[in-house]
Amino acid sequence: METLTNNNLAYNMNSALTWGICALHLNKSKSGRPLSRFIHFSLFLMEAVPILGQLISLIDVAVSKVFKLSSCQKPKPHSLSSSFALFVQEFELEILPIYKEHEETFDSIGVHGRMHASRVVIFAEVMACYLRENQGVQVDIDLLRRVAALHDSGRKANGPDLWESDSAKMIESHLTKKGVDSEIAKSASEMVIHGKDTDLPIEQMLFSSADCIDIMRPCCGHGGIGDFKKGYLLFLNDCKNGSLAAKFRDDLIREAWIFISESEDSKLSQTNEPNSGYMARLLAIIRRDPQKYPLLNSALYH
Ligand SMILES: [Fe+2]
Repeated sequence: METLTNNNLAYNMNSALTWGICALHLNKSKSGRPLSRFIHFSLFLMEAVPILGQLISLIDVAVSKVFKLSSCQKPKPHSLSSSFALFVQEFELEILPIYKEHEETFDSIGVHGRMHASRVVIFAEVMACYLRENQGVQVDIDLLRRVAALHDSGRKANGPDLWESDSAKMIESHLTKKGVDSEIAKSASEMVIHGKDTDLPIEQMLFSSADCIDIMRPCCGHGGIGDFKKGYLLFLNDCKNGSLAAKFRDDLIREAWIFISESEDSKLSQTNEPNSGYMARLLAIIRRDPQKYPLLNSALYH
């Protein structure tokens, strides 16, 4: 790093000197004897060629930066709000009532209730944030939030999911109601219908991974971090052993388990808990303890 800095300094000083000499020759070529003017103009041209090269390379760097920036800021194909805070309001008001009804009918122990839906949203958000910030991956976070939130909405019982197409219809209906183009809404809704495990859209991989992590909840029967089969977790499953990505993946699994345990123990799992403020109260568990939840905090509150 030090060598690089010294080289850059020498390079910049040399460039400044060349630019100065070049300007001097150009100035002197404007007056004096014809031979002197000719010599200065010739020297100006000789100095100007490398300067032109520098200018072209500067323009090249600037253009490539602009293109890189624009590719990261691709316009969204819909007008859903990007604010997580606004999404939380939408989630509590329009989506949690569906899961509360599950808790009041077939799901009194809350296997696929509000707590599960909320945590899947949180885990998907954290994983999307990691991919975006560390690997430059483009994620349609607005669609991901709604797909994650509604992925079990069509269920009529616990156990194997026989209602994926019902959940898909509810996602399509919700997105259409929010003004999303009908084709985009339909395509997004199909992410909850399992069929293949490869070449998934990034949002499908993320919501599936978030759902997979939450299988550690004790009420699943084979819950707990001890029995978690991380080979099934698609998120960062191709990272090299010992890499930073592998460390993040392992740390996230550990932190998620702590959060699952603490949130399951909270009174939020009770059906009489109101929908209003439900997610906010769950998020408060994370917010109040950044030492215990460093990854969740840095993704949700950075
Ligand atoms: Fe689920």
